[in-house]
Amino acid sequence: MKTLSEVNMCGIVGIISKEPQELVPNIITALNNLEYRGYDSAGLSFLDTSTVKTFKCLGAPSDNLEKGEIYAKTAITNKKITTAIGHTRWATHGKPSIKNAHPHLDCTGRIAIVHNGTILNFEELKSSLQKIGHTFKSDTDSEVIAHSIEEALKHEKKFEDAFLHAIKMLEGSFGIVAIDKKNPGTLYVAKNGSPINIGITDTMFIVASSVNVLLHYTKHYIPLSDKECAILSTNKGILHQEILQFKDKIQPTSKQPKLIKGASVEDMSKEGFESFMLKEIYEQPKTVQATLLGRYNKKTGNAVLGGLTDHEKCLKQLINIITISCGTANNAGKAGKGIIENLTDINVRNEIASEFRYQKHNFKQHNSLIVVISQSGETADTIGALKVAQKERYKTFGIVNVVGSAVSTETDTGEFTRAGTEIGVASTKAFVAQLTVLYLFALKLARMRDMEKDEGKHLISTLENIPKHMQKVLILDKEIKKIAHKFKNIKNISFLGRGIHVPIADEAALKFKELTYIECGSYPLGELKHGPIAIVDKDHLSVIIMPKDDQFALSKNSIEQIRSKGGKVLIITDKSAEKDPVIQKADATIIIPTIKQNICYPLLEIIPLQLFAYHFAQQLGMNVDKPRNLAKSVTVE
Ligand code: AGP
Ligand code: GLU
Repeated sequence: MKTLSEVNMCGIVGIISKEPQELVPNIITALNNLEYRGYDSAGLSFLDTSTVKTFKCLGAPSDNLEKGEIYAKTAITNKKITTAIGHTRWATHGKPSIKNAHPHLDCTGRIAIVHNGTILNFEELKSSLQKIGHTFKSDTDSEVIAHSIEEALKHEKKFEDAFLHAIKMLEGSFGIVAIDKKNPGTLYVAKNGSPINIGITDTMFIVASSVNVLLHYTKHYIPLSDKECAILSTNKGILHQEILQFKDKIQPTSKQPKLIKGASVEDMSKEGFESFMLKEIYEQPKTVQATLLGRYNKKTGNAVLGGLTDHEKCLKQLINIITISCGTANNAGKAGKGIIENLTDINVRNEIASEFRYQKHNFKQHNSLIVVISQSGETADTIGALKVAQKERYKTFGIVNVVGSAVSTETDTGEFTRAGTEIGVASTKAFVAQLTVLYLFALKLARMRDMEKDEGKHLISTLENIPKHMQKVLILDKEIKKIAHKFKNIKNISFLGRGIHVPIADEAALKFKELTYIECGSYPLGELKHGPIAIVDKDHLSVIIMPKDDQFALSKNSIEQIRSKGGKVLIITDKSAEKDPVIQKADATIIIPTIKQNICYPLLEIIPLQLFAYHFAQQLGMNVDKPRNLAKSVTVE
């Protein structure tokens, strides 16, 4: 399991070249390749004669920097320079905004830095620097690095000594690249907890968070280790590198360049997975960790959602919540209904966005809240429904993945899901991130009502352990692949569940349909006997989601009904039910870990269903990353 510090996504890049050349396009290309690591904002700085020039944008680099102000000023992109850095941000301190986007400068504008990670002692550093006159422009932790170097320069003759002095004061995780307008052709690099790779060519150094950026230039690279820094320069036409370690006292260390093995640029961005979708399914433990990061307080047993801070009064008087969304996001909304209604006395209604727009709404505005869920934040139906909600003066709360998207900027407030760029068109990690935000939202609402502190702490403890349990489910991948192959010739599939598992059955059916192009249905298990059971025969497979909760006994009845009609049964249940005789009779079972809080099973049970659909489609030779007829974001009605 990756440590939290490695969960901090974001991308940093730095390039220096012997000869002046058009480096800005190189930086932008690098940021586009790093975007999957996080992309709520981006920026770059470069040394132009004796000044540091800096450009920033909100949202993903590929959506903005190229089309935005940088390329608009072609003179800049065509500028021949030797020194540039860039950053694509995934905010941890300070909301996504232009002022909080990296690079960050010191007071004088001499130094620019980009940082990946979290500086744990930034408040004390910042306040002592402010006390001696430093003025900060951002709310981030990172900016303190630039000012610390500036302050150290008052006592150190050489920039690298000031840089090292400042780095030694930092606690926390960091990957840092700094440039100094008085030292063109030099990159100052430091690493502790966040990845830093140094690419070497005959004429350049390229520093980046991921090696997939280096592959555009070279396969020769040096990965820095924790508590190491590098001073890279191309002065006087000679490439020079000095690597020092700063664990205790600062001392030079030597590192031989390595070869990036067996990877193409494309593969590297898939990080060894056969498809983006599979990579994103496997990313889900990190996604949940990232979505949870900083959003709960174990002492108070409560959620900490910045987007709701100024809305406590409205939340307290809520009687109705209406979710508006499409597709997978709508399935998250349906699961959210079960979660919120289970934990509070609030009525939750799910509306498909394309329907909501044309319906009459009778909820009272003063005690209703519209929750808009969208991965892309650009879905035309969802935006249309949001506009209707705003016209009818409902308060709106967005749960969105893409920062700077229409839904994220139009809603009154909201929370970002922080799933990172989701490239696979069939949504996986974004769905799990949406659910995670909904659990936190429900916790916040419940703790304003009659949920006791201890109950809140139990829910938080269960959520905190979900990534660990998810890893155990992912270990079943090969077994799930075998099960998909076992049922390869099945043409008639139903996904079924009860209670909180019904929306997960719906999401499973959507995944299966999107990927295999095979029509399939999803129903509440209790509904089977009211019609759908007519389709059950020896050529039909029922996929039943039934962890051992309060619906388990009823679900077992339905299994007997299906089997009596000759239907095949694949059961997804938890370890505590593994030995149950009815489970044992299934044609196949997938056993997920048992967890204390049944309400959190959706975060685990969706993984085998994603993998089942994925492997079923793979064996049919389908394009799992780009299924036919689909778009990642449906921006048309
Ligand atoms: C999900 O796998 C599909 N790609 C699709 O249903 C999607 O969830 C829907 O179009 C909504 O997209 P959004 O979350 O970006 O608004
Ligand atoms: N903690 C820094 C910030 O919030 C860097 C986050 C990142 O790694 O992108 O700006």
